[in-house]
Amino acid sequence: MLAAKGLYKFYGSVPAVQDVTFSLEPGQVIGYLGPNGSGKSTTVKMLTGLLEPTDGEVTYNGQNIHEDLVAYRKRLGYVPEEANLYPYLTGQEYLDMIGTLRAMPDARKNARINSLLELFSLWPHRHVTLGSYSKGMRQRILLIAALMDNPDLLILDEPLSGLDVTSTLIIKNLVQALSARGKSIFYCSHILEVVEKVCSHLIVLRKGQVIASGATREVRERIGTSSLEGVFLHLVEEKDVTQVANQIVDVVVSA
Ligand SMILES: Nc1ncnc2c1ncn2[C@@H]1O[C@H](COP(=O)(O)OP(=O)(O)OP(=O)(O)O)[C@@H](O)[C@H]1O
Ligand SMILES: [Mg+2]
Repeated sequence: MLAAKGLYKFYGSVPAVQDVTFSLEPGQVIGYLGPNGSGKSTTVKMLTGLLEPTDGEVTYNGQNIHEDLVAYRKRLGYVPEEANLYPYLTGQEYLDMIGTLRAMPDARKNARINSLLELFSLWPHRHVTLGSYSKGMRQRILLIAALMDNPDLLILDEPLSGLDVTSTLIIKNLVQALSARGKSIFYCSHILEVVEKVCSHLIVLRKGQVIASGATREVRERIGTSSLEGVFLHLVEEKDVTQVANQIVDVVVSA
């Protein structure tokens, strides 16, 4: 249903994403992995229609998403890496605005907002302004905003950022429950142990290029290590992390 075909993005002459191709079917959860600056969020912005690819295209059910971006966005729930939430709106007002922008019928919108605020433990904070929310509370509001209109496709850019242990466990289970209902999920993260548990497929990026992709187990087996952490370090990182940590301490404590 969602397909990326030969996606490239250049910022000036710098390539941020190079030749990314994949398809995401109903019920699949693709984990999009890579270190900082490898091109994950740039890809996500092209998938959501926020950025035009320098080359290649994104299609949804066979149609280029830019042909009818409004209809595409109606089926899409997106949790951005960073959001400039309106600081003077309360949590409830913000969700109400999102539901209105998405043209949800009032009764459904209000019922969903109330239930989801309760389930995400934000009900007592519903009349507090977003500017006073903690990082994890803002993240939960973003998750509600992405889910409230029952999207077929969810694009999550580091969705666990700032979440506490309980919320993290809920979101992990939620991703699995949504995929069991046939939703397609594109899950962007550098947190390996989460991705390993919730993703059916993996795409590993390095410097904007795909260096491994396939079913999670296949990618793991191909590399011949049992843990994804091993795969990741093997494929992506060339650094001796202990040595780097020690060098940092040496600099910090130096005279
Ligand atoms: N607006 C921009 N203008 C110029 N360069 C950019 C812009 N946005 C991203 N880049 C560059 O593109 C590359 C990929 O960035 P991107 O944000 O996609 O990485 P990421 O994989 O999401 O990283 P992180 O894990 O830190 O979120 C980086 O080299 C970054 O500096
Ligand atoms: Mg990013």
